[in-house]
Amino acid sequence: MKVLITGSSGQLGSEMVRLFSDIIPSDRKMINLENPLKVYDDLDRIKPTLIINCAAMTDVDACQTNMEKAYNINSASPLSIARYAIKNNVRVIHFSTDFVFNGEGGNYTEDSIPDPINYYGMSKLMGDMAIEAIPNHLVIRTSGVYGTKKNFPLVVYQRLRDGKDIKVIDSYYSPIHAKNLAKASSDVIKSNLTGRINISGERISRKNFAIQIAEFFKLDPSKILESSEFSGQVARRPKDSSLKIDEARSIIKWDFYSVKSNLSLLDVKNLHL
Ligand SMILES: NC(=O)c1ccc[n+]([C@@H]2O[C@H](COP(=O)([O-])OP(=O)(O)OC[C@H]3O[C@@H](n4cnc5c(N)ncnc54)[C@H](OP(=O)(O)O)[C@@H]3O)[C@@H](O)[C@H]2O)c1
Repeated sequence: MKVLITGSSGQLGSEMVRLFSDIIPSDRKMINLENPLKVYDDLDRIKPTLIINCAAMTDVDACQTNMEKAYNINSASPLSIARYAIKNNVRVIHFSTDFVFNGEGGNYTEDSIPDPINYYGMSKLMGDMAIEAIPNHLVIRTSGVYGTKKNFPLVVYQRLRDGKDIKVIDSYYSPIHAKNLAKASSDVIKSNLTGRINISGERISRKNFAIQIAEFFKLDPSKILESSEFSGQVARRPKDSSLKIDEARSIIKWDFYSVKSNLSLLDVKNLHL
C-alpha cells in the first residue's frame, strides 16, 4: 500500500503522518493544490493506492477575498483527486467542515442538508461532492480543529495567562484537538468504513469553552467577556455549526470527544503566537 497524505505540514496532516506506515507525506512543493490540472499528473506520477487529503485552504476570510484560490484548492483539486481515484480504483479519505452548514439548527448529522453561508463552506462542499462521486471514499466532517497553529484555545490561554481580557462570541461548535482527530480518523479509516462520518468534539459554546480552558489551566475566567458579533471578520460564520457524533462514538470506543480529553493535548509550553 502506498499511502499519500496531503497537507502533511498542517495541524491534522502532521498528526496523520505518524499513524500510517509506507506513507508519502506531501506538501505544497510536491503537489500544489492551487494547480488542479497538475494535481492529476502529479498523482499519476506518484501512483498512490490510498489518498488521505488533509490539505485545504482553511483561512475562512482569505477564502472569501480570494475565491479563485479557494476554488482551486478546496473544490477543483479534490475533483482531480477523484478523477485519478476513479481511473485507478483508489480509495480516498477527505476532510470536510461544519462550515458547510448555515448554523441555524446545530447538532448536524451525517445526513443533514448543507447550506453554506460563506465561500470557505461553499468551496469545501464542492470538494466533498467530488470525492463522494468516487466508489471507495470516506468523507470525515469535523469542526474547530486545534493543534499547533494560532487557534481559539491557544489565544484564550495566552490572553488569560497574560492577564488580558478576551471577547468571545456565544456561538456553538464542536472543537477537537488535531491529535484526537487524527487517531480517531485513523481508527475509522482502518475499519474500511465508506461514506460520510462526523468526527469532532462535543457541542459547546465558545464562551463556555473559554471558561473551561480557564478552569483547566487554572486561569482567571472573569476576563472572558461576551460579544454579540464576530468582529473584524470578512466572511459570515454559522451561529451553531455543532456536529452530532453518535455514529463515530458507536465505532470508536475511546474518548476522542470530551473537552478534557482534547484540552489535555494542548501544548501550551511551545506556544508561538
Ligand atoms: N482548522 C479547522 O478549524 C477545521 C475545521 C473543520 C474542518 N477542517 C478541515 O480539516 C482539514 C485539516 O485542517 P487543518 O486544521 O489541519 O488545516 P491547516 O492546519 O490549515 O493545514 C492545511 C494544510 O493544507 C496545506 N495547503 C494549503 N494550501 C495548499 C496548496 N495550495 N497545495 C498544497 N497544500 C496546501 C497547508 O500547507 P502549508 O503549511 O504549506 O500552508 C497545510 O499543510 C481540512 O480539510 C479542513 O478544511 C478544519
